[in-house]
Amino acid sequence: MVYKRKSFQTLRGMKDILPKDWLYYDYILSNTKKIFAFYGFQRIETPILEKAELFTKGIGKKTDIVNKEMYILRTKENKELLALRPEGTASVVRAYIEKGMFNLPQPVKFYYFGPFFRHEKPQAGRFRQFYQLGAEIIGEGSPATDVEMIIVSQVFLESLGFKQKNICLSLNSIGCSECRPVYIKELKKYYRKYIKQICDNCRRRIKENPLRVLDCKNEKCLFIKNGAPISLDYLCSECNSHFKDILELLDYLDVSYILDKTLVRGLDYYTRTVFEFFLGNEIKRIALAGGGRYDKLVKSLGGTYKPAVGVAFGVERLMDELVKKGKTLVLPKPKIFLVQIGDAAKKQSFKLLEQFRKENIFLGENLGKESLRAQLTAANNLEVDYVLILGQEEVLNGMIILKDMDSGLQELIPLEKIINEVKKRFKKQKSKSK
Ligand code: HAM
Repeated sequence: MVYKRKSFQTLRGMKDILPKDWLYYDYILSNTKKIFAFYGFQRIETPILEKAELFTKGIGKKTDIVNKEMYILRTKENKELLALRPEGTASVVRAYIEKGMFNLPQPVKFYYFGPFFRHEKPQAGRFRQFYQLGAEIIGEGSPATDVEMIIVSQVFLESLGFKQKNICLSLNSIGCSECRPVYIKELKKYYRKYIKQICDNCRRRIKENPLRVLDCKNEKCLFIKNGAPISLDYLCSECNSHFKDILELLDYLDVSYILDKTLVRGLDYYTRTVFEFFLGNEIKRIALAGGGRYDKLVKSLGGTYKPAVGVAFGVERLMDELVKKGKTLVLPKPKIFLVQIGDAAKKQSFKLLEQFRKENIFLGENLGKESLRAQLTAANNLEVDYVLILGQEEVLNGMIILKDMDSGLQELIPLEKIINEVKKRFKKQKSKSK
């Protein structure tokens, strides 16, 4: 009888982050820290699990993110509904209120970097567990803050090697609770005329979350969408002048953008400005980041009125684009390998390795192996420049063999001098390569 061994696999839309991938995550995180800290943002991390209600209230019950994509779990004891965080803004706002950060000098500027979860249909650049790096400025409503968010985002993208001319910033204003209802009424009226022609999704959306009809990519809805009323025509005077100030500042700063009159975004907390950074064109666009203003969120989650603005980048999307652009990051490799033969040499090797490490010299080793051949094969695979060989005899004489892998030459060196000798050779190598 043949038993089939059970093997486990990652869930659909989720992936292991392997050592070679971490190089890119770390690279993006180190740029995040550098740029955002320099612009006055401080790091915050919120828990991966939160009460589901935080997101239902924060992002909106009728949004796809909450309605279709949120991972929900129930605790055994108290039957509380919890959710794996689908985004970071609601959690950061929760922390801001809970920790009384409204008492700090305003605005408070945060950045974060971590995993998020959405039960979406996996496809290129779309995962069920993905990393986002986000930034929020809470406690300031001036158009200057929206512009600051856009500028720091651009500087961050440039720090990763993306050129401003290749990245599109699309912008829109979707108004506030004063003017948006008037616009939505007009939008609904317009779509009602085409109710039989539009796709099922639009038919549902026009009832449940009307702004989102403008997000429809279905071809048969395109011409209807193109003729739809636009939010910019319905802005109240405050929203209008807020948006005008932003555009003026961006023009003054030579930041190029496109006015995307159908940009609405998929989260209900936005007020006024919404924006996205994307690569590609209108038809095939890869959204690297999205953000906007959310002046009502702090209050709706239990705080007092605090206007705010934020952005979040998709880390895997940034990674994909970095790789496509030819950015190669490789795992560090040792240039020298220590081979040991016999018990005494193995013990001595532990000491020697630590002495090298204290001097910041990265040594390859395979202390688990006994045979000389196996250890030399490992050294060869690493393509090291030097091999150190420590056998019983060398231990007894206080010596070590230094083998130059290029020339094949071997020298006996006193153990206490080996670190300096290696340093000398590396220095010579460095000055030759200059
Ligand atoms: P979002 O547009 O939902 O905004 O997500 C931001 C970015 O995360 C997207 O532009 C995309 O690059 C990436 N992203 C989203 N979903 C996925 C996925 N399933 N797989 C891979 N990457 C994905 C927000 O999350 C808002 N919280 C942004 C924000 C911060 N607004 C104000 N403050």
